[in-house]
Amino acid sequence: MNSRETISFELSQPALQARRNAKWNQYDADVLPAFVADMDFAVAAPIQAAIERIVRDGDYGYPLRDGQKPDRLVASAFANRMQSRYGWELSPDLVLPLADLVQGTYAPILAFSDPGDGVVLQVPNYPPFRDAISTTERRLLTLPMRDDGTRYVFDMDELKALVDQRTRIFVLCNPQNPTGRVFSRDELLALATFAIDHDLIVISDEIHSDLVYPGYQHIPFASLGPEIAARTVTLNSATKSFNIPGLRCAVIAFGSEDLRKRFHSRIPLRLTGQANVIGADATVAAWTEGQPWLDAVMDHLHKARNRVVDVLAAEVPEIRFHAPEATYLTWLDCRELRLSSAAHQFFLNNARIGFSAGETFDPGSPQFVRLNFATSMPILDEILDRIIVAARRNDR
Ligand SMILES: Cc1ncc(COP(=O)(O)O)c(C=O)c1O
Repeated sequence: MNSRETISFELSQPALQARRNAKWNQYDADVLPAFVADMDFAVAAPIQAAIERIVRDGDYGYPLRDGQKPDRLVASAFANRMQSRYGWELSPDLVLPLADLVQGTYAPILAFSDPGDGVVLQVPNYPPFRDAISTTERRLLTLPMRDDGTRYVFDMDELKALVDQRTRIFVLCNPQNPTGRVFSRDELLALATFAIDHDLIVISDEIHSDLVYPGYQHIPFASLGPEIAARTVTLNSATKSFNIPGLRCAVIAFGSEDLRKRFHSRIPLRLTGQANVIGADATVAAWTEGQPWLDAVMDHLHKARNRVVDVLAAEVPEIRFHAPEATYLTWLDCRELRLSSAAHQFFLNNARIGFSAGETFDPGSPQFVRLNFATSMPILDEILDRIIVAARRNDR
């Protein structure tokens, strides 16, 4: 097995610019991209080998691997990983592979609610959640994540005041994008009790669960107990932590057989499609053989996160933020810079950095941006330098 030191994954700027991905092509060549949740890293060798094997043999027929369909292998790899990493026992029979997690958010919303029903969402949030609620004509009920001075938290009394007789679903994102919170057992238990008392289904997006920093621990919501599992649909994939979002393979895990049946009474199995062979084999390789790579990447991300914290706190204290507890994303509050335009626009024009715009995570947050720091140290340092220079120039 490789040791952490021998696993290299950082890519040079010319190599990144030669890629045909959204991150490095959306903006002009002089803009450093720090937006979409893609890492500037080469993938793990076992993933590359799994893909090369299919491509080398031109093996694109309907697949069967050792007597099993790839979907089943993905489901088993997920169940095994949840058991070994988090002690969460779940049957692969309750795991449904599909192409992507946005699809995985829409489907349970359609299955477990009707137009006009309320769906609770924490704000700021990953933008497609909001679309999944509004385009299906459900009522969006927003629960603010509030900065308590040390981290972003939600308030159970605010949640109580928000729900009504027609509230059916809570969309949870844990670890939370964009605040980087890893919710504690107490926070999750309070939410679980509330969901049981108010007969809510919880859609728990845990796509960032492998990207947790030392000192924090991911707790799958459905692992809290059978009663809460029975109303929880967990969403996950290898795409964020193993940097393979283009390969389109994800899973929905139902917390009980009844829940799975209820889902399929409205959403036929055929409608959610299947992962393609490359995505499925890559996901199995990631979850079963990719951990040494991920450990090495997490060491790097931990250093990168600390660099962001140290440099910004020292050089631009007006930008307020909390070190993310997970994810390679940071939610930067730029209100004290008193910018004359939205923060995203300001940094694009004046620093040539492409952040994610705060208003896409919360319409009320144009003075926030989300920084993606999953890049090599030289590029991260250049991003930080550009932030400092632009912020100081603005101050004059
Ligand atoms: C919380 C969350 N859910 C889902 C996704 C996207 O998943 P997919 O590409 O599988 O639709 C992302 C991507 O950044 C995300 O941050």
